[in-house]
Amino acid sequence: MNILILGSGGREHAFAWKLSQSNQCSNLFVAPGNAGTAKIATNIEIGVNDFAKIKEFVLQEDIEMVVVGPEDPLVNGIHDFFLNDFFLNDVIVIGPEKLGATLEGSKEFSKEFMSRHNIPTAAYESFTAETVEKGCEFLETLNAPYVLKADGLAAGKGVLIIDNLEEAKSALREMLVDAKFGDASSKVVIEEFLDGLELSCFVLTDGKNYKILPTAKDYKRIGEGDTGLNTGGMGAISPVPFLDDELMQKIEERVVKPTINGLQKDNIPYKGFVFIGLIRVNNEPYVIEYNVRMGDPETEVVIPRVKSDLVELFKAVGSQTLDQVSIELDDRAATTVMTVSGGYPEAYEKGKEIIGLETIEDSIVFHAGTTTKDGKVVTNGGRVLAITSYGPDFRTALKTSYKNVSKFNFDKMYYRTDLGFDL
Ligand code: AMP
Ligand code: GLY
Repeated sequence: MNILILGSGGREHAFAWKLSQSNQCSNLFVAPGNAGTAKIATNIEIGVNDFAKIKEFVLQEDIEMVVVGPEDPLVNGIHDFFLNDFFLNDVIVIGPEKLGATLEGSKEFSKEFMSRHNIPTAAYESFTAETVEKGCEFLETLNAPYVLKADGLAAGKGVLIIDNLEEAKSALREMLVDAKFGDASSKVVIEEFLDGLELSCFVLTDGKNYKILPTAKDYKRIGEGDTGLNTGGMGAISPVPFLDDELMQKIEERVVKPTINGLQKDNIPYKGFVFIGLIRVNNEPYVIEYNVRMGDPETEVVIPRVKSDLVELFKAVGSQTLDQVSIELDDRAATTVMTVSGGYPEAYEKGKEIIGLETIEDSIVFHAGTTTKDGKVVTNGGRVLAITSYGPDFRTALKTSYKNVSKFNFDKMYYRTDLGFDL
């Protein structure tokens, strides 16, 4: 079968790496892809939100499956676009329709979904510009720190955690009245602060049945010891070392099952990944967010631990027969270390030549922000390369990743040397 992956990050390279290993995959395309995907698939220069061009390409190349990497095209309704088109509606699209994508596209929608289906989450209320003073009164009833979330997509920047009550009130006014995050903050969810370790659970569902994928933990802050600005993710570890059977069972019973059942009860069709962000408080799981796609860099550790044929699993999602296939996982731990351009997540330079990649041994190199220029691999984004390794435990795997990170270089390369420090 001919397959098209949409996106250009480490997540999409990891999908391409896995799908290309299947004997059911004939021609593999990535739009727009990166220097890594170019080695195992054909990159095509089409943007992930250019639905008209995607349609043209899908028809021209006889694509039977489209795997959507990032949330943007899902929130913009790419799956609905395929279903509503006479020539495209038999193409398998991995990723939910617009309604399901609202679980990520609107914090209020996802909080209402969780309360309707009794899924444990932080207590909350939501406010608009009209009710901003009520919002300030609500803040007074809470204890610090205060958690303010822009309702809509704000490129991962829409969540503010503030220690001081007066500052929290001004931030709320800025979000609602001064449109700090544009339209995304025309509504704001204020919620109770949960104190605990974070972990993520990944679920593949056809809307009726589900398979739980390996869990992972990522490192979001740019600085050592979890300090500094938030990034897309500086590395990840799978499985989550502090996750015991008891907690995993609670996650499945109290979160995963009610989520999949809730989708059905609410008539929300859903074929794709549910990425559940959790916080553990007293060995109880609480949901902090849903994402309607895989995480990046979590995919770079989760997908390498899936032994089963991913094309087979995706086909079962398409035909709603996930209950008829089994999923086999690798017992080994996997870790990934993300190397980034100096300056990221703020301004950084691009076009730096990457030297030494060919010397890497025993790790998988997943490209993120890279491209090819005059036959050389050069940097093309903030997050550049994710170095994934296996090991009997995460510490051994991390050693291998770090050994290989020291073998290549580009001007102003940066990475965190302390992954796993908290475990
Ligand atoms: P979100 O975009 O909802 O995942 O929030 C971004 C980050 O903010 C999360 O990864 C958590 O670190 C933190 N966060 C979100 N909600 C809460 C909460 N209720 N309590 C504590 N931390 C939170
Ligand atoms: N690594 C976090 C995310 O993909 O949202």
